[in-house]
Amino acid sequence: MQKKWGVLVAVIGAVALAAAAAGADTKAPADYGRVVMNNFSTKAGLAPVVFDHWLHRTKYTCRLCHVDIGFGMKAGTTEIKAADNMKGIYCGVCHNGKAQAGSKALFTSCSTDRSDMKRCERCHSQGKSVKKDHEFASVTAKFPRDKFGNGIEWEKAMESGLITPLDHIEGVSLKKSTRPVQQDFAIKPKSAGMAEIIFSHKKHVSWNGCEVCHPDIFAGGKRGSTQYTMKEINEGKFCGVCHGTVAFPQADCNRCHSKPVK
Ligand code: HEC
Ligand code: HEC
Ligand code: HEC
Ligand code: HEC
Ligand code: HEC
Ligand code: HEC
Repeated sequence: MQKKWGVLVAVIGAVALAAAAAGADTKAPADYGRVVMNNFSTKAGLAPVVFDHWLHRTKYTCRLCHVDIGFGMKAGTTEIKAADNMKGIYCGVCHNGKAQAGSKALFTSCSTDRSDMKRCERCHSQGKSVKKDHEFASVTAKFPRDKFGNGIEWEKAMESGLITPLDHIEGVSLKKSTRPVQQDFAIKPKSAGMAEIIFSHKKHVSWNGCEVCHPDIFAGGKRGSTQYTMKEINEGKFCGVCHGTVAFPQADCNRCHSKPVK
């Protein structure tokens, strides 16, 4: 442990700037993973839409939304029209007044009728003070804690059954890959003395499915074929597509660099 920290302190200088640029830990736990969508809203005279990952990921896997429903993996890249939601695409897959969450139907998304502005403002909420049905503190009160990001150890929350995210919606979900899950492997950083990274396919697949990562983020033909650096991760590429936006951020060095060099 002593040695590991010594090494870390030595390298931190080199990467601290980049990590700071990634804005790693400036957000409150409830705001981490929040996405604001405003391709069309302001132009249409409505407030921008605010989407919270922390709430939705307690209920659904990443794969369900990002592969089956087709939301982009970068804020602002999915061009969502009110008509799409009304046809039952995107948010409208669930927010259609019919799909059930627990014992009640999920509230409906867009409409051409603006008389029920209170409903519009549940999503078109940026800059409004909207009363939420689910507050971060109470929903996550029993979840295992971590220091960074949402302040939650998400894979423990899933392993212990506190959350059981759905991975399938009838009529929407594509057939899942039946390819075997790869073994865990170590990634050796390109600098001497830095702890190796253990990458677990098994843990990632429980949230992501193969298609979220392959081939868009990692070609995945053969291990070592995608070359990247810590700087690129800090810039939001490769592991940094998710780590630093939705999954725990770069500041949590030891959680990735977990295998001390002997
Ligand atoms: C209920 C649906 C839903 C679930 C579940 C979900 N996402 Fe998202 N995600 C979205 C939407 C919507 C956006 C915004 C897309 C846009 O703006 O075009 C988004 C955006 C993102 C972005 C881009 C963020 C940014 O700041 O650029 C990343 C990365 C991401 N999601 C990763 C994940 C990961 C990892 C998980 C699982 C832990 C996950 N998502 C679960 C709907 C979802
Ligand atoms: C896969 C299903 C699904 C999709 C897709 C989805 N949601 Fe949700 N959303 C839910 C569920 C389930 C809840 C919780 C409802 C409840 O328990 O009351 C919820 C709740 C919400 C809430 C209410 C939060 C609160 O505490 O009051 C907002 C706002 C919201 N979603 C916005 C969005 C937006 C914006 C999109 C599209 C960009 C979206 N959702 C896409 C399933 C979904
Ligand atoms: C479940 C969440 C949700 C609710 C509720 C909702 N919207 Fe939307 N709406 C969205 C999302 C997501 C977008 C795309 C945001 C963007 O990129 O600007 C959008 C975009 C729009 C747009 C601009 C796009 C276009 O087609 O011109 C209009 C207009 C709109 N919504 C109308 C409404 C009205 C009116 C209501 C209330 C009756 C409403 N919406 C309620 C999620 C929602
Ligand atoms: C979170 C992202 C992620 C997910 C999800 C994921 N992979 Fe990978 N996969 C990787 C990374 C990172 C590598 C290493 C790439 C490199 O070094 O070029 C890799 C490598 C591989 C390789 C090459 C292994 C080797 O030893 O040469 C195969 C095959 C593979 N993945 C298959 C899959 C399959 C099948 C799934 C779904 C069951 C999956 N992956 C899900 C990130 C992911
Ligand atoms: C598609 C999104 C995505 C990508 C890309 C991704 N991860 Fe993750 N990773 C997650 C999610 C989601 C979790 C669950 C924990 C959380 O959300 O904070 C996770 C958890 C982890 C964990 C903790 C679980 C464990 O295995 O002990 C490690 C370590 C990790 N990721 C390393 C990496 C590394 C290294 C890379 C790049 C080679 C990478 N991840 C790429 C989404 C991603
Ligand atoms: C999400 C997982 C993850 C986190 C968190 C993370 N790293 Fe890395 N890091 C990697 C991966 C994967 C590599 C391998 C890239 C390579 O060198 O081939 C790497 C490589 C490195 C390298 C080798 C040189 C380079 O630029 O590639 C250094 C130094 C480094 N990380 C330092 C840090 C420090 C310091 C922190 C905390 C501030 C940190 N890392 C947090 C995944 C992570």
